[in-house]
Amino acid sequence: MSKRERFLPYALPCLDEQEEQAVIEVLRSGWLTTGAKTRQFEQEFCDYTEAKYAVAVNSCTAAMHLVLASWGIGQGDEVITTPLTFCATIEAIEYVGAVPVLADIDPATGNMDPAQVERAISPRTKAIMPVHYGGLPCDMDALMYLAQHYGLRILEDAAHAAGAEYKGRKIGTIGHATAFSFYANKNMTTGEGGMITTNDPDLADQCRILSLHGISRDAWKRYTEVGTWYYEVQTLGFKYNITDIQSAIGICQLRKLDGMNARRQQIAQQYHQAFREMDFVQTFPDPLPTNRTHVWHLYTILLNLSALRIDRAQFIEELRARNVGTSVHYIPIHYHPHYQRYGWKRGQFPHTESYYDRTLSLPLYPTMSDADVADVIEAVYDVGQAYRR
Ligand SMILES: Cc1ncc(COP(=O)(O)O)c(C=O)c1O
Repeated sequence: MSKRERFLPYALPCLDEQEEQAVIEVLRSGWLTTGAKTRQFEQEFCDYTEAKYAVAVNSCTAAMHLVLASWGIGQGDEVITTPLTFCATIEAIEYVGAVPVLADIDPATGNMDPAQVERAISPRTKAIMPVHYGGLPCDMDALMYLAQHYGLRILEDAAHAAGAEYKGRKIGTIGHATAFSFYANKNMTTGEGGMITTNDPDLADQCRILSLHGISRDAWKRYTEVGTWYYEVQTLGFKYNITDIQSAIGICQLRKLDGMNARRQQIAQQYHQAFREMDFVQTFPDPLPTNRTHVWHLYTILLNLSALRIDRAQFIEELRARNVGTSVHYIPIHYHPHYQRYGWKRGQFPHTESYYDRTLSLPLYPTMSDADVADVIEAVYDVGQAYRR
């Protein structure tokens, strides 16, 4: 058995002296929480995506909650999303009291299938939440058509898709609102953090107010020279603001994002080339849809289980024994105990279920060396050879 000397983690952030310096600067400035750095981060995010408005918050989960709440979605409403996502997408729907409705994936991309979405629309449907799975943009033309035709709103869960493009437009400018994640393993990180982008000034305003206790627009300024002690709570809000410490990191990360994504694309290319030669592995997605820039937050492979004597869980254990970390994205939403309340049954979302049985996510991040990439390829090959049927 071939084995790497040191364990290769499944994900690592890509940070250097620039982020360290930026944090030190904020720590020494005397202003730690939401302030000028956050406003700068938002402005640079608008410049990068070409969205008109950006509101920085403390997570993508918070971003999604704020958008749904600002739209007034709640009790009695339905929101359609995918079963192949992290629980956060569904939580945002539940936080506002609405009912999540699931539409199966297109097995070729892992993204929600617009035909399945259309089938799931009811008179109670208010919004669609596409997830750009792994960093590959969804079929936004088809989803925007449905939104227009049925009078629905689109909130994109772009937790995986910072920097991705659809037909030459950056993700963040297509749906009515988009939520990004800057969680530690994402394509760009602030440790924890998130961003809402939209072209709707009223939505941006409302999200900003709700993100800081429902108090007036420039609440964060109340301790500055130009601020005032007087404020009014206009509505029930949340404590979802981001700190300037995080925003300072975010500014550095955003400026490096295209470079980091280019390295991800290079590694994905190397993986694709190698795995196409192995008959017990199916590369994914293959072929890549055209007119979209995939930013490879995830590199997933599908196992050809009929060619192997072990299942996906055992394959993962064998990779771990060879010092290669992996993950699985995702355990389908309807498999979790909490979601049994919606009455979803196994077998109801066959494409998601069959994808889940076969998938695993390999390490892919900008700081991986070519030798690391070669080690992962070697380990996958070695396990496949050892357990070939
Ligand atoms: C698809 C998806 N949506 C939402 C989230 C939530 O992001 P955050 O941790 O920033 O709230 C994640 C995080 O892993 C995710 O993968």
